[in-house]
Amino acid sequence: MKIPLFKIATGEDDCKAVNKVIMRGSFWAEGPEIEQFEEKVAKYIGTRYGIAFNSGTSALHALLESYKLKYPLGFDDFEVIVPSFTFMSTATSVLLAGGRPVFSEIEYETYGLDVEDIENRITVKTKAIILVHYGGYPARDTIKIRQLADKNNLLLIEDAAESMGAKINGQMIGSIGDSAMLSFCQSKTLGIGEGGMIVTNSTTIRDKARLVRSHGKEGDDCVLPGYNYRMPTMCAALGLSQMKRIDDNIKKRRTAADYIRTHLKECPKLDFPSLIKDHFQVYQLFTIMFENSEIRDNVKKALDAAGVQSKIYFNPVHRTKLYYSTNYGNLPITSDIAGCVLTVPMYPDITKNDLDLIIDTIKETVN
Ligand SMILES: Cc1ncc(COP(=O)(O)O)c(C=O)c1O
Repeated sequence: MKIPLFKIATGEDDCKAVNKVIMRGSFWAEGPEIEQFEEKVAKYIGTRYGIAFNSGTSALHALLESYKLKYPLGFDDFEVIVPSFTFMSTATSVLLAGGRPVFSEIEYETYGLDVEDIENRITVKTKAIILVHYGGYPARDTIKIRQLADKNNLLLIEDAAESMGAKINGQMIGSIGDSAMLSFCQSKTLGIGEGGMIVTNSTTIRDKARLVRSHGKEGDDCVLPGYNYRMPTMCAALGLSQMKRIDDNIKKRRTAADYIRTHLKECPKLDFPSLIKDHFQVYQLFTIMFENSEIRDNVKKALDAAGVQSKIYFNPVHRTKLYYSTNYGNLPITSDIAGCVLTVPMYPDITKNDLDLIIDTIKETVN
């Protein structure tokens, strides 16, 4: 493809940072860069702690396991409310932790969970809500969902995999929930290959998450069944180096997103997620909503022919094979949105020529 969906902004400093760890010939798995990276990310998000993992998925799974350890009797046959319009591991992490994901509807403005729909799905078994901030857009109902969770004594966990650096009223996404997960896989606003982090203010969750991350090991003792979810030190070194350019990269993404929005403003039969007042978007994805799936599919074909990669984020999780045969419900708004969206390339160093090709191809097809 001439224009890929994403591309990572890298430099010599990244190579030097990783090389330094490699050439050291030791501490590749538990080196000092891990703690430095955890501190740096926690400070950026505005939480007391960061606990690094080898993926966002392992971080989210370990986070749920940590809450189970904190409240053992409360997590018997438990339910967690999640969106279906997300990457599969949001829901799978609940299954892996022994719970049942309960899929809830999203809203049309930012494709985040709809607070009223969540309220209708709360039962005596509900223990937590996992709120996904889709594609770098803070979810519209975040503050109301925080209040709903408090009113019902539920945990609010933010799946901020796609929204590191996004804010509401100046407060970082990832610091609004009781705890949050970040992902650093290669398409995210901070990419290090693979990696993830729990960010939290809870000392108990920090300590339990560290145990779950590394075999339940306390010194030479094994105190609970854990995993090997540790981040390699080379990835942490790369993360520290990439942290220096995160805000600059976000600025570039925002400029590119403004350019597409402005040039497609008058184009009929398409729309974008809403720019909500006091919300700061980081455009991990640039997603366009078309009037119907036929137009969307035609645009996708035209982009393919022009050498522009595009992708449908997301195929709703409740319709995947794992959940399909079970009674995971009917989510008409989720299905409607999933049928009409298309994500086009977005990355910090995307050129004006590339953006013009994307814009012109869409305009020609829709018109
Ligand atoms: C919303 C969401 N949740 C969870 C994940 C899982 O993160 P990772 O790929 O780092 O395991 C991703 C990323 O792919 C994601 O986009």
